[in-house]
Amino acid sequence: MEELRIGILGYGTVGRGVVTLLQEHGEAITHRSGVRLRLVRIATRTPSRDRGVDLGDVELTDDVRRVVDGDDIDVVVELIGGYDPAETLVRDALNNGKHVVTANKALIAEKGVGLLDIAAKNGLELAFEAAVAGAVPIVKAMKESLAADPVDRIYGILNGTCNYILTEMREKGLSFETVLADAQEKGFAEADPTFDVEGVDAAHKLAILAAIAFGTPPNFSGIHIEGINHISDIDIAWAMEMGYRIKLLAIAKRMEKGIELRVQPTLVPDSSMVASVEGVFNSVFVHSAYAGTTMYHGRGAGEKPTASAVVADLLEIARNKKVGAKGRVSGLSVLAENLKPLEVLDMAELEGEYYLRLAVVDRPGVLADVTTALARFDISVDAIMQKGRSQKDAVPLVIVTHKTTEKRLQDGLKAIEALESVRDKPRFIRIETGFA
Ligand code: HSE
Repeated sequence: MEELRIGILGYGTVGRGVVTLLQEHGEAITHRSGVRLRLVRIATRTPSRDRGVDLGDVELTDDVRRVVDGDDIDVVVELIGGYDPAETLVRDALNNGKHVVTANKALIAEKGVGLLDIAAKNGLELAFEAAVAGAVPIVKAMKESLAADPVDRIYGILNGTCNYILTEMREKGLSFETVLADAQEKGFAEADPTFDVEGVDAAHKLAILAAIAFGTPPNFSGIHIEGINHISDIDIAWAMEMGYRIKLLAIAKRMEKGIELRVQPTLVPDSSMVASVEGVFNSVFVHSAYAGTTMYHGRGAGEKPTASAVVADLLEIARNKKVGAKGRVSGLSVLAENLKPLEVLDMAELEGEYYLRLAVVDRPGVLADVTTALARFDISVDAIMQKGRSQKDAVPLVIVTHKTTEKRLQDGLKAIEALESVRDKPRFIRIETGFA
């Protein structure tokens, strides 16, 4: 029987998932393609560590070159993550004539164009379904199922760690720091959670999705990124009281003059579908001209979900091999020569409604001072709430604005901050009400 000979780089959680999926369901997978997926070799820095898996005749090595350069390897599965050495290894594997399957979002978002180019020139696949939202089949859905339909909007929850933290903060009334520590203990957050909580991980995924949707090279550096590390349990409680939830939303929109690309904590109505995505789950909503809104939901990380996407990519390569197909679908859906850079619209000029939280001295005239400061920048108030009474301490004042640009809002907040009756730096969070 024909075989696809596999070498894996990195034997962590996802690597183990790939091994067990191939072991447990290898026969059924072979039935789908007529090609046997044979794991030949795994390179890891820690070959002697016990992963509780019987590898049989699969070779374990600490030499990555035995995978990247090995004559007995057809496809390299890159599960190391990060930029270096992953980029070099993937490039070398492609230059050595090997297909590559990767779960590495940073690599595709930031170096993808060059690497996909090498793959295309060599008639190879560089597949990355697992890089975006783990098991959620969004890359393939956009590259194939929605390929004919102009997409104008993608939004969703692309980071399970942040969604878990925000969900726990809301449900248990706990602070960011407390929930993060608990998430780290339970394995839902990395020891160094920076990429997740600062929004970088979601932005990598958004860059990839926007590229596929809009036929443009991934533009990670063009994304406006805000994380959840400054979100306070007080804001979550206020949001709840007003009928909202706070979510870290990744949003890409095609507008007349360019594209909007942003990852930021956002108030969404309690009744919206995106608000109901809780815990570690990911959800992507795609709006296209003919299909309308379609939704893709599932587990965005973890051993088995990520392995599911990785092995599906391997199966796709096996299917191509069986029929002698090469480069049937371009890496980013649009042919490389047709990718077109698009202008990213300046966040400062984007319009939206905002939630503001101020700490003000509780005395007559303060509300008037605040709304006058906002009015100077043409910001109109939709709702205003104040709770508690205190002659000496500051009390919270929460404002919901009508539509304004972020630039005007920032100017208005500066004017508010300068008021003698205002204590602390005002907090603000964008509100999105028009989503499913
Ligand atoms: N750490 C990511 C998440 C998964 O929490 O969604 C890998 O990108």
